Amino acid sequence: MRIYLDHNATTPPDPLVADRMAQALKDVWGNASSVHHFGQQAKAALDEARASVASLLSADPSEIVFTAGGTEADNIAIRGAAEAMEASGRKHLITCGIEHEAVLNTMKSMARRGWNVTLLPMDATGIVSVDRLRETITDETALVSIMHANNEIGTVQPIADLAAVAHERGALFHTDAVQSAGKLPVDVQALGVDLLSIAAHKFYGPKGAGALWIRRGVRMLPVMTGGRQERNRRAGTENVPVLVGLGVAAEIARRKIDTEGPRLAALRDRLEAAVLLSVPGTDRNGAAAPRVPNTTNISVERVEAESLLIGLDLAGIAVSSGSACSSGTLEPSHVLKAMGLPAHRTQNSIRFSLGAANTGEDVERVISLLPGIVDKLRNLTRTPVRA
Ligand SMILES: Cc1ncc(COP(=O)(O)O)c(C=O)c1O
Repeated sequence: MRIYLDHNATTPPDPLVADRMAQALKDVWGNASSVHHFGQQAKAALDEARASVASLLSADPSEIVFTAGGTEADNIAIRGAAEAMEASGRKHLITCGIEHEAVLNTMKSMARRGWNVTLLPMDATGIVSVDRLRETITDETALVSIMHANNEIGTVQPIADLAAVAHERGALFHTDAVQSAGKLPVDVQALGVDLLSIAAHKFYGPKGAGALWIRRGVRMLPVMTGGRQERNRRAGTENVPVLVGLGVAAEIARRKIDTEGPRLAALRDRLEAAVLLSVPGTDRNGAAAPRVPNTTNISVERVEAESLLIGLDLAGIAVSSGSACSSGTLEPSHVLKAMGLPAHRTQNSIRFSLGAANTGEDVERVISLLPGIVDKLRNLTRTPVRA
């Protein structure tokens, strides 16, 4: 029996998503820009998916731009909006150190092109301070990009308050909602943002499918040049089957949002409390609240995260250390580093991220196995006492 506790890395496609995608791959192969029957059939499938995504975000379908995932949505949001703002003389961008690389490395690339980029300082809560943003923002700021929920520690940012500060100074606000969509209600009006990114594979949809919501009236320069697809915001023939999958996943997520969150929060809280109590030298990273319901990130002193990850995998339990993209290297988590945590916390953290198939039984199994695995690893690395 294998237990998958790495849903922030990716989720298994919902069976209905897989079925509808397979059907679309066979039957809906027209080019959605074609005028004839086959094209219109593809366009109708895209329209349905667009309406489902819009409904998940309480948005208007005409404001949804389909992308090939979260990274692409983040790139189009930051590059497209910032470059359109440049004409107004604004050359400053603000983000924070706990963002996903999709945002951080895009900001670094903008800095190399002459943009002035500020990273807001973070503290150990992993929550961005609205006052810090107020002190940092200037009349030159073009765009502020702060994630909704963090992928490693799950903390949820005060987006509505942050966006209000950006708007007071005439800047645009983008949020990467890749880790919150499908886990928390995400309402673009209530959040008050201008741009919001999501990715289907984080809520039981396919990889390589995402969306960028762009508030009507926000000016963007096309990042990808080519055809006029997606209202000129994302050139390239739409990948209808995967976008059908995104639409079905969005519809399922919307229906389950009120029941699945509390269920996962109860399982996560039980797991977290039991681990902190039964394994000596453990600490939770980041604030307990506000947090997405499925995530806990725990540092385990005197055990290297990679060894613990392998130990758990051998016992049939899949977790992650830091973010999936940086696994495989022994680099400390950039998120925990940005929060100012010491090396023994940044290098020894593991993330449990729960999802649809997880049960109370799974959680009890992890609770029963983890202390023994940690003990074994600690004993292996204990420096022998010289005679
Ligand atoms: C917060 C966040 N943003 C962006 C991404 C990138 O999304 P994608 O893998 O769809 O490109 C991820 C994926 O891990 C993420 O967690």
